[in-house]
Amino acid sequence: MSTRNILVTSALPYANGDIHLGHLLEYIQTDIWVRFQKSRGERCYYVCADDAHGTAIMLRAEQEGITPEALIERVSRDHQADFARFGVNFDNYHSTHSEENRELSALIYTRLRDKGHIATRDIEQMFDPVKGLFLADRFIKGTCPKCHADDQYGDNCEKCGATYTPAELIDPVSAISGATPEVRSSTHYFFKLPDFADFLNAWINDGHVQPQIRNKLMEWFESGFNEWDISRDAPYFGFEIPDAPGKYFYVWLDAPIGYLASFKNLCEREGIDFDAFWQKDSSAEVYHFIGKDIVYFHALFWPAMLHGADMRTPTAVNCHGFLTVDGAKMSKSRGTFIKAGTYAQFLNPEYLRYYFAAKLTSKVDDLDLNLDDFAARVNADLVGKVVNIASRCAGFIKKLGGSKLAAHCAEPELVARFITAGDDIAEDFEAREFSRAMRKIMELADDANTYIADKAPWALAKQEGFDEEVVEICSVGINLFRQLMVYLAPVVPEMASQARAFLNVESLDWESRHAVLLDHAIEKFKPLMTRVERERIDAMIEASKEDLVEEQKLKSTPKGPLMETPIADEISFDDFIKVDLRVARIAKAQYVEGADKLLQLTLDLGGETRNVFSGIRSAYAPEALEGRLTVMVANLAPRKMRFGMSEGMVLAAGNDDGIYLLSPDAGAEPGQRVV
Ligand code: MSP
Ligand code: ZN
Repeated sequence: MSTRNILVTSALPYANGDIHLGHLLEYIQTDIWVRFQKSRGERCYYVCADDAHGTAIMLRAEQEGITPEALIERVSRDHQADFARFGVNFDNYHSTHSEENRELSALIYTRLRDKGHIATRDIEQMFDPVKGLFLADRFIKGTCPKCHADDQYGDNCEKCGATYTPAELIDPVSAISGATPEVRSSTHYFFKLPDFADFLNAWINDGHVQPQIRNKLMEWFESGFNEWDISRDAPYFGFEIPDAPGKYFYVWLDAPIGYLASFKNLCEREGIDFDAFWQKDSSAEVYHFIGKDIVYFHALFWPAMLHGADMRTPTAVNCHGFLTVDGAKMSKSRGTFIKAGTYAQFLNPEYLRYYFAAKLTSKVDDLDLNLDDFAARVNADLVGKVVNIASRCAGFIKKLGGSKLAAHCAEPELVARFITAGDDIAEDFEAREFSRAMRKIMELADDANTYIADKAPWALAKQEGFDEEVVEICSVGINLFRQLMVYLAPVVPEMASQARAFLNVESLDWESRHAVLLDHAIEKFKPLMTRVERERIDAMIEASKEDLVEEQKLKSTPKGPLMETPIADEISFDDFIKVDLRVARIAKAQYVEGADKLLQLTLDLGGETRNVFSGIRSAYAPEALEGRLTVMVANLAPRKMRFGMSEGMVLAAGNDDGIYLLSPDAGAEPGQRVV
């Protein structure tokens, strides 16, 4: 069979937030599939990029007092570092804010326009007169017209569930500036999706999406669909529409084109033929892995755009469900909204890769990360079954076989069965039935352990004259272990690479399994994976709660002019006086092991001392603080942190770019009340 040409993508993460475990479900699923294809010798490219455009990113940059370009640069670096930690191995990671994307977006748009698939029309929208900005529904707040609950978003009420238009809200305000919005009219550009109704109907029913997705799309299809608004007015962080000054492509127009842009960037670097993948009659395969929340963009708008622009459409859109943790939506306050970086501080990323694989199917169902089950499963399967095979056998090979495997295979049928099983397992990987593949692999691991237990080489080794037999048994064990590592390598690449070094083999590619290791020297065995400890999981949950506290502090102390950070709701003097602010002397300041943002402060209140953890490490060396006066909230409820109890809070201004600790003028005394 000839080599397949395969292009694979994962959805492009927004450039204004950190990668969390929910994202990782997708990137790990995709990465496993790609590693499997590469192991089979297919020509497979995996590309991704940051999704860098839109109002949210523009406002976030403004809030931080930096340019959008600086923001997306920083976030891209963070994202890539997170992906690398989890072994997500892109062939290229690019940005939608790139020259390739600007050109490809213009190209696709112009082709659609020239064929009459673009319309323009004036629409009325809420406008923020202070910011000079049209407001998307989620940037408008007001009182619900049905139940009169206040502080509701512009499109629906969280209290009573009513849906409405922002114009119906009572006393609407801009969530950005607090100003009362005005209704204004402006010209918008539309992609005429109904032109593609017949094409989409056929496409959806032609095996490019999973059955559940097909059904959902058909429901939507039957209720009819509208033209798609693809323009936004300035100011907008994005690409200006070629023939429409002051109008920008809506972020979702150029986001999927970012797949092409990232691939083009790779093609130019490595001399790959871009058109061979994307021209209309291409024989290459193109797969998009996405979450269920973005199906319409990928299974309706995107194929229609490509088709309309005379390009090939995706081979398949592979959709997965959402990640829940311990049976519920990820929650910041419960500490189950876990960032990739936080997880990696406490636990081996390959545990998570294995756990996801053990639960992933080709379906769209949500997937639960049950933390007890996670620990039990990884310990039982990877450590208890797989690593155990090697660790039981390696010692005898070293001691009795001079680190060399037997020259003849004592159990050819068993080994052959393990090799043949690879064909079935490959079908499961190909079909994204990872859970089924893991089950088969663990059944084989059970068989290998049973074989070793039955032969009990440790008992034979105690008797005279059985050394050769012991080495033969353990050599079978090592060969079975090797087969399992071939099958697990796409899932746990780091463990596989250590196993490869131990086995002293060139490769663990799928085909390499056919050569049985005979008369072959192996290396010293090192434990390939240690057990998951529940305490580490608990510490990770605690740290995730602390992430939340840090985030809220950043949000409440943004830098920049007053206008950009509206003053909080009014409080009474009685409310204010409840906050007991005191002058405090920093008696001692020290680093906190394992916390890169915190300093531990011992505060002297003139008779009483307090222990406080403060997120000011990036701005102050501990020595520079000792002896200095500052101001603290003395009656804040104590908070239990991972490192100990925090008994109050010191006052500081600033955010990521700079932190400024408050201090009273000379003469103030520790313990004095501040009003
Ligand atoms: N920027 C868009 C995608 C543009 S693709 C041309 C976007 N970004 S995202 O950062 O919000 O999400 C990236 C991917 O992660 C999406 O496929 C999304 O479904 C997935 N997930 C985000 N949270 C998730 C979970 N909690 N669980 C599983 N997948 C989740 O959407
Ligand atoms: Zn309501």
